[in-house]
Amino acid sequence: MKIYPYFRALLFCLNPEAAHKLTLYAIRIAGGFKPTAAVLRAIYQLPARPVQAFGLSFSNPIGLAAGYDKDGLGWRGLACLGFGHIEIGTVTPQPQVGNPRPRLFRLPEDKALINRLGFPGLGAEFVMNQVRQPRPKNLILGLNIGKNKDTPLESAIQDYLFLLNSFFTIVDYITINVSSPNTVGLRQLQERQALDQLLTEIIVCRKGLIEKSGQTLPILVKLAPDLTDDQLDDALDVILANHIDGVIATNTTLSRQGVSSPLRSEQGGLSGKPLFEKSLAMVEKITRRTSGKLPVIGVGGISDAIGVHKMMDAGAVLVQIYTGLIYEGPGLVKRILRDL
Ligand code: FNR
Repeated sequence: MKIYPYFRALLFCLNPEAAHKLTLYAIRIAGGFKPTAAVLRAIYQLPARPVQAFGLSFSNPIGLAAGYDKDGLGWRGLACLGFGHIEIGTVTPQPQVGNPRPRLFRLPEDKALINRLGFPGLGAEFVMNQVRQPRPKNLILGLNIGKNKDTPLESAIQDYLFLLNSFFTIVDYITINVSSPNTVGLRQLQERQALDQLLTEIIVCRKGLIEKSGQTLPILVKLAPDLTDDQLDDALDVILANHIDGVIATNTTLSRQGVSSPLRSEQGGLSGKPLFEKSLAMVEKITRRTSGKLPVIGVGGISDAIGVHKMMDAGAVLVQIYTGLIYEGPGLVKRILRDL
């Protein structure tokens, strides 16, 4: 018998942000105690299905997308739900409150969410303390980084370099987020010249850190689904020229195509089911235009094994999920892996 629909009905009585906070703290507590963590693992984990990507070994192809665990509070418990990797963040250098509430909306008719959170978070120092602790050998922990709202776009590079320096030896990969729609101007960093400047400096900084530490760190770029073909071509040229290790496609969309809920006119980024075809098309285009040379993580509207298969047929090496977890519950990763 499926019990998550009953939990979901209760959680959906709360406002979406309160429900998220409650769930994340419950997962944090459950994952922090050995006996409860062991129970979660016994219920939700399946044998490994290893995948190699960006020089890293993932225990399975399903990851948790950025935004669910922005401050690294719940990754231990979330790992018990079977994810092969967890992407923490978006983290900004300084703590910030984000946009005024309400800023997160459920669209159950469409199995979608709209958010305009604007990177609320506790800042780099707090997150560093959360992720510095030892972690299970089979868990890949990524970090998604962005700029503070108050940092002018011209100085954004400094925020990214600060975060790269701070987390270089602590996480397994870093994602450069230039695609969230809720921080004014951020997505302009996907344009050819701005992206080239940003990535050039990041790669130079990484080179210095590799020489100093003797270890390397894969760097990925997360793209928006709303790029035109020309904009995508420009971004891919720059990404390849700078030898970036991979891309994540995609972030949330500003489009409301295929959305029927009355909340469709809320401002912000749309995620979930209606995003799937758009993200899938991006993954296909990226694979085609780079002749499959650039590893892609497919994300957007995945909620079952069919979606994962489609993403992989389109060229994705790994996938990530966020909104599917809200609608389908904690057994989702296990169900997908079993059906793959
Ligand atoms: C997100 N997403 C996101 N992405 C990112 O790079 N940094 C972030 O801070 C956030 N925050 C965030 C908050 C909320 C509430 C949602 C729903 C989403 C985007 C997320 O990582 C993913 O790219 C999209 O949601 C598409 O995947 P799903 O949700 O359709 O599986």
